[in-house]
Amino acid sequence: MHSEFPLRDGLIYLNHAAVGVWPRRTADAVKAFAEENMVQGAADYPVWMKAERELRGRLQRLVNAATAGDIALLKNTSEGLSLIAYGLDWQAGDNIVSTDQEFPSNRIVWESLASMGVELRRADISGDDPESALLALIDERTRLLTVSSVQFATGVRMDLNRLGKACRERGLLFCVDAIQSLGAVQFDAQAVCADFVVADGHKWMSGPEGIALFYSTEQARDQLRLSQYGWHMVEAMGDFDPVEWSPAKSARRFEPGSPNMLGICALNASLSLFEEIGMDRVEKQLLERSRLLIDQILEHDQLELMTPASSGRYAGIVTFRHKGLDNNGHAALYRRLMAADIICAHRAGGIRFSPHFYSDCSQFEAVWETVFSQPV
Ligand SMILES: Cc1ncc(COP(=O)(O)O)c(C=O)c1O
Repeated sequence: MHSEFPLRDGLIYLNHAAVGVWPRRTADAVKAFAEENMVQGAADYPVWMKAERELRGRLQRLVNAATAGDIALLKNTSEGLSLIAYGLDWQAGDNIVSTDQEFPSNRIVWESLASMGVELRRADISGDDPESALLALIDERTRLLTVSSVQFATGVRMDLNRLGKACRERGLLFCVDAIQSLGAVQFDAQAVCADFVVADGHKWMSGPEGIALFYSTEQARDQLRLSQYGWHMVEAMGDFDPVEWSPAKSARRFEPGSPNMLGICALNASLSLFEEIGMDRVEKQLLERSRLLIDQILEHDQLELMTPASSGRYAGIVTFRHKGLDNNGHAALYRRLMAADIICAHRAGGIRFSPHFYSDCSQFEAVWETVFSQPV
């Protein structure tokens, strides 16, 4: 067992694509923060601000942002995507291109723009070449392409390099919901030519819910009209006297008021672990675990793999269906797995497993025994 993830005996946690597990150091940091608040309030506020700066630095390195000023700390992915959708200046007849597999956060907000005459085009990405399916929907009225880096249900991993370069060539904005990548696999916002990257910290980054990364390039964020204002988003933050003000040049302009210091304390601790280990090692170990699950699924004739098996096409999500079960049957299988302390999800009409880099592979046999423990 990994010393930073002392899961209780018997628990097999394969649900990091939903909500991850905190490392020991994060639990310790939050306990210490609670204790500190109880005995001395914010007497050491400068130390909290240091943690906030540290977190921005860690997130900058995690996505390879050009500067920490490209990072804003928001509540969640949906908030970030909404800032983009309601910040851009749309014209009736514009369109947005996306996939037909997006989590609702990356669909509903774009659909809501229909009242302004903006169309959301959703590519069928079930084939072998999802990028071509997306690029085929682009026309002269397309303003933005938005995708999840890894699809939440099937686990399909998109070729962000190809999409980002195509967007850059055509002058489109490229928006990535990276919640299923950050903390799981390496990510380089500049290399993939992303204009916006959004991700809450509670999945693979092993942080709490409610503290999210919002990355934007300077050129991209300058296109967003602001809709939230307060003391924290101005250039001269902390100077409470002047009557004149202007929005911060950095992405802090998207943070209107007091920061979520508790969330910052927790996510900062979690990311310190990923930095210590190195994202290259985290990725390697995670992909080994996903590969093992994929191979185990492929060994069984009764199972159908929903996740693409070719390398580069999957990350930490592995989803399968049992050929003898319908959707209700899978719901029952899901309940059986959960009752056996195998924490997973019922997605894409099948069962989704999402291990992390520290997962104990020797537990996987017990998982398959439970899957096959009842005749279909
Ligand atoms: C691809 C994707 N985007 C976003 C979210 C969650 O969005 P939010 O951070 O707004 O809760 C999920 C959660 O399952 C997801 O899988």
